[in-house]
Amino acid sequence: MSRGLDSAVHLVQLLISQVVRSGGTAIDATAGRGHDTLFLAGLVGSAGRVFAFDTQADALQSTGRLLEEAGLADRVTLIEDSHEEMKKHVTGPADAVIFNLGYLPGGDHLYVTKPDPTVSALHTALDLLRPGGRIGMVIYTGHPGGAEECEAVERAASSLDGALFSVIKIVVLNRSAGAPVIIVIEKAGV
Ligand SMILES: C[S@@+](CC[C@H](N)C(=O)[O-])C[C@H]1O[C@@H](n2cnc3c(N)ncnc32)[C@H](O)[C@@H]1O
Repeated sequence: MSRGLDSAVHLVQLLISQVVRSGGTAIDATAGRGHDTLFLAGLVGSAGRVFAFDTQADALQSTGRLLEEAGLADRVTLIEDSHEEMKKHVTGPADAVIFNLGYLPGGDHLYVTKPDPTVSALHTALDLLRPGGRIGMVIYTGHPGGAEECEAVERAASSLDGALFSVIKIVVLNRSAGAPVIIVIEKAGV
């Protein structure tokens, strides 16, 4: 993975790394092949916990393998359920939640995250976030339905109360319109 400004995943991880505490709780809302889950598992340390959601068994198997190889599987709970159901599985305040939207790399490109469940999961994640915690989202717009999902997320994020949440959007200015969009939301407080 590039670690430059051309990598949306890296940029989100950078902003998320500032708020995840050793011993804390973090959520990967879209585990996929497990790269963000592995990253969060490294941040929370041996006393922390990561909850990783995906609706595809294939994705969770990949994530599990990646964690086993890294020796970090014991600090992660893999959950085969929609991220809309986050509160059923996670009670405590979370330092951070990562959403990496779209389709599973190397999987079925027609099986994608969808606007309504994503926005619903975003609101649930905002409730679970501790004061000072952040949500980082990488949103792809190049596949069918991606632009609509991005619009829905932007609408929801833009309407959040500015006294309670800081919301930023990062876009690439000199590449194709299909380049990923980043949204990061921080809950007020410390
Ligand atoms: C772009 S991939 C995630 C990539 C991942 N972060 C990685 O590091 O490989 C998006 C994932 O979202 C999953 N997904 C789709 N709808 C979902 C939902 N409602 N709840 C949780 N995961 C979902 C897909 O199965 C897919 O694996």
